Amino acid sequence: MASDAIVGLTHLSGWLAVFALIASLAMSLASRFLRDQRARLVAWRRIAGLVGFVSAVVHASIALTGVLWPPSVDEALTVIASVPYVRHGALALALLTPLALTSFPKLNARVGLRTWETLHRGVYLAIALVLAHVLAGPSADPRLVIAIAAIVIVLLLARLVPRSRVRETSDDEPRDQPPGLDATK
Ligand code: HEM
Repeated sequence: MASDAIVGLTHLSGWLAVFALIASLAMSLASRFLRDQRARLVAWRRIAGLVGFVSAVVHASIALTGVLWPPSVDEALTVIASVPYVRHGALALALLTPLALTSFPKLNARVGLRTWETLHRGVYLAIALVLAHVLAGPSADPRLVIAIAAIVIVLLLARLVPRSRVRETSDDEPRDQPPGLDATK
């Protein structure tokens, strides 16, 4: 049985990851609307995304070694494959990993804009998996999950607003770019 402190740390790191990822999405959206602040917002988006990823890794490590306690690597893989809420969390983490890696300039310069954009959209799927993870977990609060899902849907829908409505001229700036490329623009 895990101690209250370990369970508390698992929850704290998990929620920190969720809120940092949502903050990163909000900054990404804001950078489309606030042209003057674009460079700063893109830099902060990257930092928030990395904080979210590192917190998720810390969370998963504490959860695996302190809460779930599988006695071997084989058992750990069995738990991940067979317990639905753990599987959702592991899939989310797997999706977030290439996103985090390509936020480093050397790697994101290699993947190209189109690949980076496709990867970047995966963050919405990752957050959906995280919400399924929380909802199916042992201490779920459905109201909180619904509230977070609503925020994410609003952020996603707001991205569908055509750029021409956001800006007076729509062709004078590139679309979303990898952070290593656009942070200086
Ligand atoms: C291999 C990956 C993961 C594992 C093994 C894992 C494991 C766990 C476990 C065991 C709990 C329940 C702790 C308890 O109440 O006793 C939990 C809760 C939680 N997890 Fe994960 N998790 C993983 C990935 C993630 C990711 C990627 C996120 C967020 C980005 C996340 C966010 C959360 C949150 C917010 C809670 C707290 C839910 C609540 O307060 O009811 N988890 N996780």
